[in-house]
Amino acid sequence: KKVVLAYSGGLDTSAIVPWLKENYGCEVVAFVADVGQGAEELEGVEAKALASGASECHIVDLKEAMVAEYIYPTLKTGAIYEGTYLLGTSMARPIIAKAQVEIARKVGADALSHGCTGKGNDQVRFEGCFAALAPDLKVIAPWREWDLTSRESLLDYLAERDIPCSASATKIYSRDANAWHISHEGGELENPWCQPSEQVWTWTNSPEQAPDRAELVTLSVKQGEVVAVNGETLSPYDCLVKLNTLASVHGIGRIDIVENRLVGMKSRGCYETPGGTVMMAALQAIDELVHDKASRKWKATLGGEFSHLVYDGRWFTPLKDSILAGAEALSAVATGEVVLKMYKGQVTAVQKQSPNSLYSEDFATFGADDVYDQSHAEGFIRLYSLASRISALNKAK
Ligand code: ARG
Ligand code: SIN
Repeated sequence: KKVVLAYSGGLDTSAIVPWLKENYGCEVVAFVADVGQGAEELEGVEAKALASGASECHIVDLKEAMVAEYIYPTLKTGAIYEGTYLLGTSMARPIIAKAQVEIARKVGADALSHGCTGKGNDQVRFEGCFAALAPDLKVIAPWREWDLTSRESLLDYLAERDIPCSASATKIYSRDANAWHISHEGGELENPWCQPSEQVWTWTNSPEQAPDRAELVTLSVKQGEVVAVNGETLSPYDCLVKLNTLASVHGIGRIDIVENRLVGMKSRGCYETPGGTVMMAALQAIDELVHDKASRKWKATLGGEFSHLVYDGRWFTPLKDSILAGAEALSAVATGEVVLKMYKGQVTAVQKQSPNSLYSEDFATFGADDVYDQSHAEGFIRLYSLASRISALNKAK
């Protein structure tokens, strides 16, 4: 028997390796997804996995593919969960699950395992993807089975087995990072009446500490995709990395929310998405220029639906293909340039242009023009309000 475990090098997954071996009598293959969580987390991860008792460790670089094939398509729909959350953790899950299944096939495993708690969204996302991609593989979720419910008990469990672990008993927050965002949960955040302390935030300056001088950044957008930053053409992942660097200085992309988890409970989280927040603002600015009223309304519907699809872990479904096809069609005209001003936690599009712009100074001007004949408005309003007029006349009878 062989299990492929989604391994991070943290306390939980370090304990899961020996736990699986003892409770399932199986060989454990560690799988580490590099989704841009950073060198700190990845450093020495293979040695750690082997020291915990894994037979092999596979580190797979998913950074470029995650941004190009999961994040950029999601951005084309404009998806934002419950009005604020840019879906950083949610978007990474399907590509991690897919790569994990691929490793399982490669090593001939018969089971998959993960370190998600039994209370959250991630267990549903992982296992939902597993169901779609590898219905034949057994899934083991130790958090739903074991009685190691505190950090102390996990540390004791490792110490009893002489497994080295750099984790401490006093870690306050649960964090999840990838190239797009970092999430923070737990500690004082569990009380929504507690303000987040400055230690919560790890990527961005606070708006108070941000420079007193605003900075401009120019994004080039081609068919709904950010393709260049300040005139430099870059891959999707490199665009994101560069924008993270620029925007984090100005304290951009912090949110502090209470959200509805898929499993029914509410949770409080603080998220940092600096580069992504700038990208989203630029794409919205282009949409303002190129889409008519009905298209914008439809896109809002697509984005609303897609935010739930991604959050709820339904990536590998025909519905995903359907919504993305719709968003792709709208994106055909979403090309142009946007200059954004970054200043103390805010990003504002201050200049925008597109070859497909429907905005025309000729039409919008308050001065005289010969493309928009104001006398046409009278007949339009008469017919547009016909039902109201008839209804009022009826009442007056
Ligand atoms: N609540 C967010 C989401 O569901 C973030 C979850 C963070 N996940 C984690 N394993 N720490 O997408
Ligand atoms: C977890 O429960 O593993 C993290 C939080 C979540 O998935 O919502």
